[in-house]
Amino acid sequence: MTHTPVWFMRQAGRSLPEYRAARGSGSILASIAQPDVAAEITLQPVRRYGVDAAILFSDIVVPVHAVGFGVEVEPGRGPVVAQPFRGAGDLARLRPLEPEVDLPYVAETVTLAVGELASFGVPLIGFAGAPFTVASYLVEGGPSRTFARTKSLMHTEPGLWAELLDRLADMSVAFLGAQVAAGAAAVQLFDSWAGCLSPSDYERFVLPTTRRVLAEIGRTGVPTILFGVGTGELLPLMATAGADVVGVDWRVPLHEARRRVGPGCAVQGNLDPALCLAPFDLVAAEARSVLEAAGAEPGHVFNLGHGVLPETDPGILGALVDLVHTEGRAGVSR
Ligand code: CP3
Repeated sequence: MTHTPVWFMRQAGRSLPEYRAARGSGSILASIAQPDVAAEITLQPVRRYGVDAAILFSDIVVPVHAVGFGVEVEPGRGPVVAQPFRGAGDLARLRPLEPEVDLPYVAETVTLAVGELASFGVPLIGFAGAPFTVASYLVEGGPSRTFARTKSLMHTEPGLWAELLDRLADMSVAFLGAQVAAGAAAVQLFDSWAGCLSPSDYERFVLPTTRRVLAEIGRTGVPTILFGVGTGELLPLMATAGADVVGVDWRVPLHEARRRVGPGCAVQGNLDPALCLAPFDLVAAEARSVLEAAGAEPGHVFNLGHGVLPETDPGILGALVDLVHTEGRAGVSR
């Protein structure tokens, strides 16, 4: 590949009319559990935008939902947990994930999607939530601004915290393993909310478990991406987690992100998704700054700094892909 590869987090989603049509009005977890629907939604952005990768249509809470922890996804809000994780007694609610029994529909979706993607020559990226970000939903009971209960738990009961993270790590490894076995060509670990942590807390309470997930999944041979929002101060630590690529949000320019992650990792990002609501000449100027900041050396995957916003005009994203393909020169990741 001579151009910079490009895909978008949340490229399959509410900004696409064909997504809204395929998804209907039921629970997102029900759509995810229907392989024909989930594979169709996975393919939609590839057809419409010509992106260089598809990302599996699923969610980070699918494994904990599948073992019966009691997680639902509320429209417009996100994951909510009726009985949050409060103590050692709740560990029993997180039994090991058996992908073929608990979520056979995920491997079926991957198989269907990979089969259809072959005619486009486009790979499928699988994904899982990183243990910290999934734990934050289980402990807080829903989306949070402060992550106060989560931070309190890790400091006051570090042993219990470590056990919780270990169980979630095993689930992520099993979830990712099933996706890779069914044909996913790369995986992204979403530690979306890790940016709420200080570097020392990240290093002590999160990094060791993240490292284990990446090491175990790295053994399958697929490239790995580690992403979080607001992680500017964590980038040097994230670069030691063992991922091939570190995702960067829009707050740190990519030349600086490259300096912080060092030569061992490629970078992915990082156009501000909110700017995609602007007229295309502004989007184009911002996209060119991202390409320029990334430099011409290999090891840049173009993406947004976080997910596509539902209000985004799909035409803007299509034109953005064309611009990156025409002007991006970073080639494939190193
Ligand atoms: O295109 C893709 O990126 C693949 C699909 C995908 C979804 N969720 C589908 C989805 C991916 C990669 C995820 C991961 C995910 N889920 C993350 C990590 C990524 C990130 O945004 O940082 C997180 C934190 C979640 C939890 C979650 N699920 C949230 C915060 C929400 C949004 C709530 C809302 O309605 O605004 C969801 C629901 C969800 N997952 C939607 C989609 C397309 C939107 C709801 C819908 O269509 O009903």
